[in-house]
Amino acid sequence: MEFAEVVRRRRVVRAYAPETVEGEVLDRVMAATRQAPSAGFSQGQSFVVITDSNLRAAVANCCGEAAAVGRGLPRWVSTAPVLVVPCVREKAYHERYAEPDKRASRPPADWEVPWWWVDGGLALMLLLLATVDEGLSSGLLDLADRDGVRDLLGVPQDVVPLGVVTIGYPAPDRRSSSLARGRRPMHEVVHRNHWGSHAE
Ligand SMILES: Cc1cc2nc3c(=O)[nH]c(=O)nc-3n(C[C@H](O)[C@H](O)[C@H](O)COP(=O)(O)O)c2cc1C
Repeated sequence: MEFAEVVRRRRVVRAYAPETVEGEVLDRVMAATRQAPSAGFSQGQSFVVITDSNLRAAVANCCGEAAAVGRGLPRWVSTAPVLVVPCVREKAYHERYAEPDKRASRPPADWEVPWWWVDGGLALMLLLLATVDEGLSSGLLDLADRDGVRDLLGVPQDVVPLGVVTIGYPAPDRRSSSLARGRRPMHEVVHRNHWGSHAE
């Protein structure tokens, strides 16, 4: 698929068909995700790919699905045949920047921007786009019970599970009420040479 088409088609999908995702397809999605950049090539990003049905149900609980259903929302996480929990390990950056070729660089403890979070987001976006490129759909949401997911999946204490990516073939779903806000116009988002300037 053309890149522009992948970008245009991507949206957060909140319901999935029961069809499973082939292992090879999933492997390609994760291989694309691994291509993400990272500061100093620290590679602090990791992913737990979950296909086991009991684990998926338990992760859905950690996303507060039962409470959401109680509020009248349809099931989302538990309908997805694949869940991916993207994780970030800040220590990977401190270790990397203590290596000889990085000792002259500003240490992560002094960074104004905690780049490990950004790197997690860069990999996450690749994951979302890679699913679309494979004809799949995906969604992203936060964890209501981060420690619950950590225990469930055996994620080490120095690794932070960011959230949950839902993956599968799409079913008709509800669109977010947030979309009514519309996308911010280009002139608000993009500044030309100086903040507030829109001249070429
Ligand atoms: C960090 C993050 C958390 C999100 N959490 C939720 C959520 O809890 N529930 C939900 O319906 N959508 C959630 N979304 C999806 C956003 O609402 C959605 O990305 C936004 O409305 C734009 O729609 P689109 O991604 O389909 O273009 C989340 C998105 C991000 C990036």
